[in-house]
Amino acid sequence: VKALAAAVAALALSASPALGASPSLARGKVLFVAACGSCHTLAAAGTHGRKGPNLGSEDSSYREVVDRVVRGGDGMPALGKTLTRRQIADIAAFVAHATAGAAHDD
Ligand code: HEC
Repeated sequence: VKALAAAVAALALSASPALGASPSLARGKVLFVAACGSCHTLAAAGTHGRKGPNLGSEDSSYREVVDRVVRGGDGMPALGKTLTRRQIADIAAFVAHATAGAAHDD
């Protein structure tokens, strides 16, 4: 968790405040690799984690991803205090975009 916090802090420093208000898919992808990739496989991010489900196999909405990342649960850590709201928004936008069109199983 320390290594993750350091990686996330480094990313926060490198992100320019001039990038604008809307979520960034490019930043979301980099953050996903750093914060989620060790546990989740997602082809669009090139990750192969196996502790959590393969996120590419079902359609996750932006809201679902935000909720899950903030709250965690069922073996997933809550990251709402590790990541900033902005970072979570970027990650959720990236995951929703990457999984759009996959089967939805809720
Ligand atoms: C330490 C491992 C770990 C990390 C890090 C992690 N997850 Fe998870 N995640 C899990 C596990 C385990 C589950 C399965 C929980 C369950 O069975 O419902 C899960 C479930 C999910 C789900 C629900 C998937 C589904 O099929 O219902 C989403 C979405 C998700 N994670 C997104 C993320 C995102 C985005 C990140 C990075 C910010 C992340 N996770 C980081 C372990 C992790």
